[in-house]
Amino acid sequence: MNYQQKINQWNAELAGKSPVEVIRFFLAEFGDKVALSSSMGLEDQVLTHMVQSVTKEALIFTLDTGRLFPETYDLIDRTAKKYGININVYFPDYHQVEKMVAEKGMNLFFDSIENRKFCCQVRKLNPLARALNNLEAWITGLRSDQSVTRNHLKLVEWDDINGLIKINPLINWSEQDVWNYIDKYTIPFNPLHKKGFASIGCQPCTRAIMEGEDVRAGRWWWENPETKECGLHQK
Ligand code: ADX
Ligand code: SF4
Repeated sequence: MNYQQKINQWNAELAGKSPVEVIRFFLAEFGDKVALSSSMGLEDQVLTHMVQSVTKEALIFTLDTGRLFPETYDLIDRTAKKYGININVYFPDYHQVEKMVAEKGMNLFFDSIENRKFCCQVRKLNPLARALNNLEAWITGLRSDQSVTRNHLKLVEWDDINGLIKINPLINWSEQDVWNYIDKYTIPFNPLHKKGFASIGCQPCTRAIMEGEDVRAGRWWWENPETKECGLHQK
């Protein structure tokens, strides 16, 4: 059976299962060859709670771009302490960052989409490639109703960009489902969510949203909705 057939089979078998059952299944299947990729956002905090409830040994990593909010750094420590787990932090290559800043400036991302994508490449995608090296699958907090770029997603899929299996346990959850779970289990979350920040990424590239705006409207707000992916999930 090739990978795609296996993925189709998993999607059929796991269709009615809860996210924690999906996680338990893949942790058993892949062990230390699967990791949760956490941005420390609401969805990822839910997943961290689920993953550590199955085993404290499960791999969890986060990408520190060097431009995160102070509240996000604080949350990394609070979460690791609360659950007694390690969150592996991956940093960008300092040679690449220094060269980029020397050539294009500190805040190059505001100058063009090309520059913005380059910054995401250096600060997120290259470290992600290191984090995914040697893994067979990764778990993400993607939900299909997050944006127009995400409504085609499946529970399990082949990630062509990164060359491994991608598992999206919360694919069918609404934002309300996420909040209900956070409240139910008193899960730590970024206080910025209560200040109008729906989706949180790097500090210069994230703003609060106004009532009625799309949850990702505050990410790279100066760009069109169709371009608003950093390349982690879509080029
Ligand atoms: S992004 O592509 O626009 O940055 P978003 O913030 O919605 O993505 O997060 C989607 C998923 O990508 C998260 O649930 C998480 O699995 C992964 N992700 C995003 N940013 C990071 C990060 N800094 N570190 C690790 N994983 C991340
Ligand atoms: Fe750079 Fe902004 Fe991308 Fe962060 S989100 S890596 S600061 S362009």
